[in-house]
Amino acid sequence: MFNNFSSSEVKFVIYIGLLALCQCVLIRAQQFEAPEPEEDDTVTVLNGSTLYTGNISLCNNVANRVFLPYVGDCKKYYLCWDGEAIEKQCNKNYEFNARNQSCSFPDKANCMPKCESYNLTSFRYDRTCTKYVLCYYGIPVLRECQDGLQYNAETDRCDFPQHVDCVDNECMRLGDAVELLYLPSKASCSQYFLCARGVAVKSTCAKGLYFSTSCNCCDYPNRSACQIPALKRNIQPFSRMPLRGADVICPRHGAHFYAHKSRRDAYYYCVEGHGVTLDCTPGLWYDANVQECREPEKILKA
Ligand SMILES: *[C@@H]1O[C@H](CO)[C@@H](O)[C@H](O)[C@H]1NC(C)=O
Ligand SMILES: *[C@@H]1O[C@H](CO)[C@@H](O)[C@H](O)[C@H]1NC(C)=O
Ligand SMILES: *[C@@H]1O[C@H](CO)[C@@H](O)[C@H](O)[C@H]1NC(C)=O
Ligand SMILES: *[C@@H]1O[C@H](CO)[C@@H](O)[C@H](O)[C@H]1NC(C)=O
Ligand SMILES: *[C@@H]1O[C@H](CO)[C@@H](O)[C@H](O)[C@H]1NC(C)=O
Repeated sequence: MFNNFSSSEVKFVIYIGLLALCQCVLIRAQQFEAPEPEEDDTVTVLNGSTLYTGNISLCNNVANRVFLPYVGDCKKYYLCWDGEAIEKQCNKNYEFNARNQSCSFPDKANCMPKCESYNLTSFRYDRTCTKYVLCYYGIPVLRECQDGLQYNAETDRCDFPQHVDCVDNECMRLGDAVELLYLPSKASCSQYFLCARGVAVKSTCAKGLYFSTSCNCCDYPNRSACQIPALKRNIQPFSRMPLRGADVICPRHGAHFYAHKSRRDAYYYCVEGHGVTLDCTPGLWYDANVQECREPEKILKA
């Protein structure tokens, strides 16, 4: 009978009841925590010791038998063969010299930089013409310019080839015999490169003549197929922009690129949770599909 309980017994029951309630509240409270961003197990955690290549293939756009440097290890290099990058290493303590495609003494090798600073920087991926390494928060991420655009180390951006004129991706060390390779300039019809033993040297035709790929010689312009669209440069003199944050929420891990909220010629870059705003070369727009800056016509056509 209920009315037979003493008051102390009632208190005890209430006490047990409260205890159970508290525990229940505690357990339920544990279920309510601020949600964390959904991240699957395949998420890539990037660090400064490995170049993150994403789905960019190193030897894409690089001729057979061209050697590429290796970011992060001066002794190593790659041989490009049918689009594959085959890892190689210099003997002894020699280091790879991308300029003349050989293993050299370390003080003569000009090894590629590392992403040492936490600031935003980028550097040319030597010998590729189109690729570059983007550094932010010390993490190296490989990038590739689209549609024949080339990386311009003076402006840190993908640019029209007329302003870069790089042919290093086509100039291989052909073998022991001195074989010469003629490569047309991308900047001027009257110029060409002579590629010998992996080093491309620029030459100029006699006045009034154009380089012609059909004879590998300088010829009358009407006998040369050279056509380089004249470009009016509307870029300001080289100036490094001060760092601007990105007004987007960056995923905690990986490298991500997003279209800018209001500008077509800019985009956001997030690496390991750190965001920054980047600008395209004037005349180019950011294309979210290829995650690079391109000519507006190319984006509209796609
Ligand atoms: C850096 O990341 C790579 C894979 O992205 C991994 O193999 C390597 O062990 C990591 N290094 C360090 C020091 O965490
Ligand atoms: C991988 O490359 C394809 C084109 O080859 C591109 O459409 C895709 O967006 C790329 N993915 C990433 C994550 O960069
Ligand atoms: C390559 O260039 C370096 C630095 O100029 C030089 O020391 C080396 O001898 C060159 N190697 C060849 C094979 O030309
Ligand atoms: C990084 O950027 C800050 C601010 O823009 C600057 O003061 C500093 O010197 C830079 N550090 C390096 C190593 O470039
Ligand atoms: C090309 O131009 C040169 C010099 O202007 C001229 O002598 C020659 O006849 C031209 N050739 C042709 C096929 O038009």
